[in-house]
Amino acid sequence: MQCFGNDAILVLTRAGRKDTPQRTKGLTSYFFEVPLKSVFMITHSWLNSCLEKGCSDTLGWGIFARADIRKDERLAIFGGKIMLIDEMYQIPENMQSYTMQIEERFVLGPAGSVPEDTDFFNHSCDPNSGFKGQIFLVAMRDIKAGEEITFDYCMTVSESVGSDMIFEMDCACGSPRCLKKITEQDWMIPELQVRYKGYFSQYIQYNRPSAVKFNYFLII
Ligand SMILES: C[S@@+](CC[C@H](N)C(=O)[O-])C[C@H]1O[C@@H](n2cnc3c(N)ncnc32)[C@H](O)[C@@H]1O
Ligand SMILES: [Zn+2]
Repeated sequence: MQCFGNDAILVLTRAGRKDTPQRTKGLTSYFFEVPLKSVFMITHSWLNSCLEKGCSDTLGWGIFARADIRKDERLAIFGGKIMLIDEMYQIPENMQSYTMQIEERFVLGPAGSVPEDTDFFNHSCDPNSGFKGQIFLVAMRDIKAGEEITFDYCMTVSESVGSDMIFEMDCACGSPRCLKKITEQDWMIPELQVRYKGYFSQYIQYNRPSAVKFNYFLII
């Protein structure tokens, strides 16, 4: 293994030339350079390079735009460890808020012992981003450089089937639209279904049995 300044580290996987695939006992191996950061902190998510972690006025760390961003531009792809909602009890308490529900019974949890940049998106009751699928975060409108990127946690949180875990959080987003409390029932609020149509996590938008049963979304 050889270091090149602060930027990269050359990983020698097998004898051979850099960038040359080597066939050894039926396996192909490569020399490749990886950013130093990923050697010391393995990341499981992707964050648009126009975004950066910064300190929000009231909500601790947050994610901010450092350049203008266009509506529907991809902002983040979330990764991590897939776990049952009840398994959240087993991760350290200080990491439990860095989980994201991706299905009625499952969350994406931290894969390591420290949060990644994508773990720092705050909630707003008047957000500028939303979901495509379950793990893609996109801009819901044009966003100006300097703005904090937020989504409404109700886009991903719903009552967890077969679990006694209940999600509820006091909201301090400060928006005139603030509901003061964020709950796992909020996704059913008709006004929010209209406002966030197409930006709820896919499992809520299309798969929630109660959404189908009561024709939520279909009647809008
Ligand atoms: C995914 S983390 C976001 C990053 C967090 N600000 C930090 O510094 O680690 C979620 C946590 O941030 C805080 N948070 C995010 N949005 C909030 C809001 N609108 N009102 C109050 N707390 C919020 C809550 O403590 C929540 O559990
Ligand atoms: Zn709020």
